[in-house]
Amino acid sequence: MKDQAHTLRRIFEGEAYNSPMVLSVTSGKGGVGKTSIVVNMAILLALKGKKVLVLDADLGLANVDVMLGLTPKLTIKHVLDGDCPLEDIVIEGPCGIKIIPASSGIQELADLQPEQQITLMNALDYFDHDLDYMIVDTGAGISRNVMYFNAAAQRIVVVATAEPTSITDAYALIKVMRLQYGIKRFYLIINNVTSKSEGDQVAEKLTFVCERFLGDVTLDMLGSIPHDKNIPECIKVQKAFVRVHQQTEATKRLARIAGRLEDSSRLGTSGNLQFFFRRMLLNQAKGTSHAGYRLHGTY
Ligand SMILES: Nc1ncnc2c1ncn2[C@@H]1O[C@H](COP(=O)(O)OP(=O)(O)O)[C@@H](O)[C@H]1O
Ligand SMILES: [Mg+2]
Repeated sequence: MKDQAHTLRRIFEGEAYNSPMVLSVTSGKGGVGKTSIVVNMAILLALKGKKVLVLDADLGLANVDVMLGLTPKLTIKHVLDGDCPLEDIVIEGPCGIKIIPASSGIQELADLQPEQQITLMNALDYFDHDLDYMIVDTGAGISRNVMYFNAAAQRIVVVATAEPTSITDAYALIKVMRLQYGIKRFYLIINNVTSKSEGDQVAEKLTFVCERFLGDVTLDMLGSIPHDKNIPECIKVQKAFVRVHQQTEATKRLARIAGRLEDSSRLGTSGNLQFFFRRMLLNQAKGTSHAGYRLHGTY
């Protein structure tokens, strides 16, 4: 068993080793399709031979495990309390994707005691060498918890729809991430569109407001996903739509989006899970507050 001093050294020296890409999938407004995108993108990446871990960091009702008809018995709270190792709470989904289910413990991740931080870092050792992607399904909005997960990820994927409130809330989220955490690059998925041009228009609108009001923020449009009645149908029967409807436009577009993320992971920053949580903990130490920001019409 690794000792705590070893783990601490790794945390503070930033030792580099295998580097899974850590993505957060987030949104200003809820119900825009984050969980559907996370689950199905994880499966598409797994089908290409990638090792994927999904961290369900949303305490909302439509959780990753529910979407896939899985029933976790243990949660991250058990790990933080020292009751079991992380590998015991990980459940396996379709195509070998691994899932850390949501729980009240997720809320506590934003407020860990030093001992719990070390427990978590030790636990993550188990995965670090054997993963290509960790995808974090965050809650919606600009709560402290959501922001910590986003700030720690290497790629922040913002999901929005063509609804005006979804666009203004996406802007509000980007604004907080820029002003409070200095993040300048975001990836964009526009979901539930009636046409590709509608998706492009939403992306243009968001890009325009970000450039106009925030200046140096870059939005990389990953693509749009059409409205597809099969998606809610699949959720009802707890199946992933990319497996049931392999040839539909929605599946093809999501596959293209996953491909673009893969390309981007070959370029820019890389890190690892400990790196991710280290950044999360550092952000906590800064004690940033978002009290001055409201959703809706913040520009
Ligand atoms: N492209 C789409 N076409 C049709 N329905 C969609 C699409 N994407 C998501 N949905 C539906 O929208 C609802 C919210 O999706 P969900 O993934 O739970 O959103 P979030 O995680 O952002 O709250 C679900 O019922 C889902 O089936
Ligand atoms: Mg969700």
